[in-house]
This record gives sequence, structure tokens and C-alpha cells, in this order.
Amino acid sequence: MAPAVLGIDSSTQSTKAVLVDADTGRVLAERRAAHPDGTEVDPRAWLDAVDDATEGLINQAEAVAVAGQQHGMVLLDEHGDVVRPALLWNDNRSAPQAKDLTAELGGPERTVEQIGSLHVASFTATKMRWVRDEEPQNAARAASVLLPHDYVSAHLAEPGTEPFTDRGDASGTAYFSTAQDAWRPDLAAAAIGHDIALPRLPDAPNQVMGRTGRGAALAAGTGDNMGAALGLSLGPGDVSVSIGTSGVCAMVSDHRPQDASGTVTGFADATGRFLPMTTTINASRILETMRGWLDVDHEELSRLALSSTPGANGVVLLPYFDGERTPNRPDARATMTGMSTSTTRADLARAAVEALLCSLADGIAALEQVTGTQPSRIVLIGGGARSRAVQELAPAVLGRPVTIAPEAEYVALGAARQAAWALSGEAEPPVWQQGGGRLVEAEPTPQVIEAYRALREATA
Ligand code: XUL
Repeated sequence: MAPAVLGIDSSTQSTKAVLVDADTGRVLAERRAAHPDGTEVDPRAWLDAVDDATEGLINQAEAVAVAGQQHGMVLLDEHGDVVRPALLWNDNRSAPQAKDLTAELGGPERTVEQIGSLHVASFTATKMRWVRDEEPQNAARAASVLLPHDYVSAHLAEPGTEPFTDRGDASGTAYFSTAQDAWRPDLAAAAIGHDIALPRLPDAPNQVMGRTGRGAALAAGTGDNMGAALGLSLGPGDVSVSIGTSGVCAMVSDHRPQDASGTVTGFADATGRFLPMTTTINASRILETMRGWLDVDHEELSRLALSSTPGANGVVLLPYFDGERTPNRPDARATMTGMSTSTTRADLARAAVEALLCSLADGIAALEQVTGTQPSRIVLIGGGARSRAVQELAPAVLGRPVTIAPEAEYVALGAARQAAWALSGEAEPPVWQQGGGRLVEAEPTPQVIEAYRALREATA
């Protein structure tokens, strides 16, 4: 019998654990446990959740890996105790510190040369600087800093294991050099105001970094977006488009991306390649908001949207409801134009779906521009990708065929694939046959994105 491996996704909202056959990738069992809400969370809650979600599964696994929400700052004191609640990727209080850190590194060009991305409030270093500026007593107590996935991995490791991370998640801290593939401890120290211990980096992406208390191999783990790319078995040029709370377009690339405009973040991936990425703050909530306004369920929202016409009879929505990260308009609000007395509920529903797809089309266009690569495949994942209207309209608005991935926990599957890779010791990750997915095609409707871009420019 093939060994079983366990993949864990410690995401913003919950922990998901999947027990998988290491040879085929077949899911044998799955469990989950909820996390507390908020952008500031006691990280010990994730340890309770991982204990709960892995109960009865972890003892069956020969190897384990944890993927987790990127960027979150877990500060520990000299005894390994939590200094203050973790600040998560979606906590924007450190926006001024992001500007300060870019200026200290010599401006945008010099910054992306060194760390691969331009600072935004999501990045760990900006949160450390916020603690230095606003809570100096906490900054003084901080002896080490971990990312969420490192903290959960350390909990699963046998006592005495030195904490570890991977280059994918490390590349979202702003104190890792994507050029040198190494920590920049000087930048971590500058952020918090003194030297601070950083977790160990692997020498190879499939390295066994430690053992669980029961002796299973622990792989390095990674950030959730890197985990999804691994779980989807994406290759160079493939693009995943994830529609969740945030909208993420990520392309696997052999080349180190550098975008001084800050639109594309130049992360590393979990296989030794890179994962240039765009992240929007407004994604599935665009549909949620319109659904609430129209007082309909998801199916009815889709039906309404599909009964209107391309361009929603002139209604255009710029969906920056909660401010936006891509483009960088943190204080923006949404704008809707083109309504007349003949505008219908169907047009409003259509405008919402088109707005979501246009913002993702902008993300894909930015990836194309920065990498100089045409996407070979576009794979749609995430809760928002379950919408029938999103599925049918995506190829029309994006102007190219789209694959709808079968519903699965891709982040946890990616962690499981990394665990199986570490267990095999092979040069390449195992090849797992996946459920294929459905290819959808449609006549492109370029007028939709043109109207959206005109409104975006007019409100800039
Ligand atoms: C990526 C980002 C989010 C989180 C979500 O830069 O901030 O996608 O990783 O967990």
C-alpha cells in the first residue's frame, strides 16, 4: 500500500487537513476547524485548530507539510511565547510604514531589485516596523519572528526542532532577497529596531526539515498561494486565478519578476521557480454585495447576470468597495456609472460579475506585461469560481479559454504534494492525475474591459 501524506492549509478563516495517497494524490480523508475572525488574531488559536483538524489523520501520515496564509507576523519572545496577537496580511494599519521602508531601501527600483516586490501593508516587515513605532515595549521583547505556516509547523515538530520556513513564504516578508535566495537579516533588524532570529531555510524545496512527535517527516511547507500552484500542478506560463475574499492571479515563471510599479509582487514559489502575482482586496465580496442589494441567492444572481447583455446595457461598476491594493487605491470606494430609468436588476447583476472579471483581467494583463509571457493556461479556482455566471462569462471578458478546476482544497493538496515529494527524495514532485477540469470558451467581448478601463482611468 502506498504511504499516506498529510497536507494542511492554515488559512485566514480555517484550518483544512487532507490525508492523501502519496503515489496518486487521491484524497483519503479531510477535516477542518474554524479560526477566529479579525485581522489581528492570537496565533495560538491556529494551534488549537490544527490539533482539531488533524486529529485521527496525522497518526496515519508518513509525511506532513503546512501551507498557510502569507505575510502574517508572529512575534515570539526569548522563551518562544507570543508577544502580541499576530497581524495578518489583510491588516492595513502599516500602510505608512510600507512607504517608509521603500524610501529607506532607496525607492521602488532599488527595493524590487533587492527583495523582489514593492512594500505594501500586507508584508511582514511593515508590521514589524509598526510595532517598533507604536508598541516599543513589544518590539523590545521580540526575539524571533515567524510566518503563520512556520508557527504551525513548529507546533507539529518534535520538541527542540529549530523553527523553519521556505523560500516561497519567506519572499513575502520583505526581508528575503529573491535575487540571492537568502534572508536579509539586516532588513528584519531595521524593521523591528534590533537583531531578531529568523527561521531556517531549506537547501532544496523537497528537504525534510524535521519530524513530528510520532516520527513522520515534516517538509518545509509554504505560503497558501504557492501551495495552490503546487496543488494544481501548474507549470511555467500557467496562471491560476483564485476568487476568494481576495482575488489572486499567479503565474509560475522561471524568471525573477521585478515590477517597480508594485502591481505585480515578485514572490518565489515552492519548487525553485518564481510566482509573480497580483492580489486584489475586492473579489467574491463584489458578488456578495450585489447579491445583498438585490436580495437574491447566488443562483438567482447568476441567472439575472446571464439574462442581461455584454456591457450590462451601459452600466459599469468599478468595484473598489473596501479600497483597493491592485491598483493601489487604499482609500477608494466603488463607483457605478451608466444607469438610466431602463436599467434593470439583471443589468446590475451583470455589471457586478463583469466588474469582478475585469479586475482579474487587469491582473492577468499585468502578469503578461511584467513577465513578457503569454499565459499558456488560465485555471479558475476558489469559492467565487463556483458561480455559473462567472464560469460562463470569464472566457468572454478575459478574451481567452478558461479551465474551471474541479472543486478541491488546492492549498492543502499542494502541501500534501510537497510532503510526498519530501518523502520520495526524488528531484521532481510526484505527478498526480487530477480531475481534469472543464474548458470553457466564448466569443471575446473586448468592449466590456474597455469601458471598465475608461472608468478606472477617469477616477484615478
Ligand atoms: C498574497 C496575500 C493573500 C494571502 C491570503 O499576497 O496577501 O493572498 O496569502 O491568505
